[in-house]
Amino acid sequence: MNPLSYLSAKTAVRLSPIHGRGLFATADIAKHEIVAIKGGHIVTREQLREITPRLGPVEIQIDGDLFITPVTDDEREGSMLYSNHSCDANLGIRGEITFVAMRDIRVGEELTHDWATTDDDNYSMKCKCGALDCRGTLTGKDWQRPELQKRYAGFFSAYLAKKIARMNKRR
Ligand SMILES: C[S@@+](CC[C@H](N)C(=O)[O-])C[C@H]1O[C@@H](n2cnc3c(N)ncnc32)[C@H](O)[C@@H]1O
Ligand SMILES: [Zn+2]
Repeated sequence: MNPLSYLSAKTAVRLSPIHGRGLFATADIAKHEIVAIKGGHIVTREQLREITPRLGPVEIQIDGDLFITPVTDDEREGSMLYSNHSCDANLGIRGEITFVAMRDIRVGEELTHDWATTDDDNYSMKCKCGALDCRGTLTGKDWQRPELQKRYAGFFSAYLAKKIARMNKRR
């Protein structure tokens, strides 16, 4: 079966110092190059509640109440991107499902995205990214932080970029 997601030929999944398995660069990657495209089914938050206990954290949020995710055990591996979160991420989002390099990336680097660029949710969790400027605790509302809006400008998921523009217009 063809995998649901696309992973660049310049990537490989390996054990990660951040968590479990992670995605790594097997060759240099240039800024703006496409690294991965998430594939899966589009489901609501309500539907996701039934999927997460079976498959774990496998989804990417693509709007306030919409997620792209594998639905069956057979689809899981081919949909996983294995990109861990880092507070010093090197991947950003183009549109809602395309992960691109935010800067030139060297062979061997772990490929990470900052969940602030994809998530609008209500969680709070300890971060183990190990970055010098790790924020320690991650929340589903980190996209609202002005310093992150500045840092990841142009690399937020499209639905969050719209929210950020609206939020800052009101100020
Ligand atoms: C989609 S998975 C990423 C791949 C995962 N490492 C694996 O082996 O399946 C997302 C999960 O990885 C873990 N994770 C990723 N980045 C993390 C971080 N910076 N700190 C703590 N846990 C992290 C969390 O358990 C999170 O729910
Ligand atoms: Zn961190």
